Amino acid sequence: MKGKLRKGVLLAGGNGTRLHPLTIGVSKHLLPVYDKPMIYYSLSLLMLADVREILVITCPKNQANFKDLLGDGSQWGIQLNYAIQDEPNGIAEALIIAEDFLDGAPSCLVLGDNLLYGHSLTMHLKKAGAQTEGATILACHVTNPSAYGVVDLDGNDKPITITEKPSKTTSHNAVPGIYFYDETAPRKAASLTRSSRGELEITDLNRIYLEQNQLDVCLLNQGFTWFDTGTHASLNEASDFIKAVEKRMGLKIGCPEEIAYLKRWVTAEAIIANMQTNLNSDYNKYLQYMVNQNPDNHQ
Ligand code: DAU
Repeated sequence: MKGKLRKGVLLAGGNGTRLHPLTIGVSKHLLPVYDKPMIYYSLSLLMLADVREILVITCPKNQANFKDLLGDGSQWGIQLNYAIQDEPNGIAEALIIAEDFLDGAPSCLVLGDNLLYGHSLTMHLKKAGAQTEGATILACHVTNPSAYGVVDLDGNDKPITITEKPSKTTSHNAVPGIYFYDETAPRKAASLTRSSRGELEITDLNRIYLEQNQLDVCLLNQGFTWFDTGTHASLNEASDFIKAVEKRMGLKIGCPEEIAYLKRWVTAEAIIANMQTNLNSDYNKYLQYMVNQNPDNHQ
């Protein structure tokens, strides 16, 4: 059905086994990436794309922790809903779980362990979000493409093939965990069969769009940084990166309050009122600073 607002699906399930023992007692998506829980960064991507109605999908064990942290989203002027993925049956299953929630709307699926930062990011997200037909994925040059979904592009940046974790590939264009779909995605996802590793692969869904000539690729240039924070090393690298950039700029990356405030989704008064621990944390001090720096947004 055309004309419906795009909704978000934030996938934060799985067992995080690659991060054991860190993730035995807590979901990896709630671990810190420097000064914020990991999931703030992927949630921020949805907010930057102007997506305000979001389904957060978790494993059964950790759902209560997510609700404690994120609540109903009203503190950020968004609406958060929750659903369970019983087992990590694959990323594409998120769209099947989300079918009723999406109710015929286009979607933006984001993996809760992905972090993207770079020049014109908001512009790219809005452009992809404005598409009404087909799917749009991003592509980012990496040194280790075999760890990801990989897309091969022709000379005009049109996709030729897309493969999940190819053992051999000539392309270095990995696909980050943010995908824009039209309203047909849940139905297409339901038609998938499990891969050799037993999952409903998001790459197989993207290949359906590719075969129908409905897959657009937005190639991110050198000004971009992308982490998937799925291993101890990448988690640490992401933290170090955020720390270095935030320290240098004196600004925060992935701060939902700031995004909501600058978009005028919430008032300064609401932000101040929601600070849970007065001004003792550096994060809250930053929110106070950010509000003072942008007096025009006071409502
Ligand atoms: O990070 C981008 C990559 O993510 C893509 O390039 C790949 O095409 C895609 O398959 C995926 O690869 P990963 O091997 O990194 O996926 P992983 O199993 O680590 O899961 C990524 C996130 O999705 C993580 O936050 C856990 C969550 N997840 C994963 C699965 C399979 C779920 O919540 N449920 C699941 O069933």
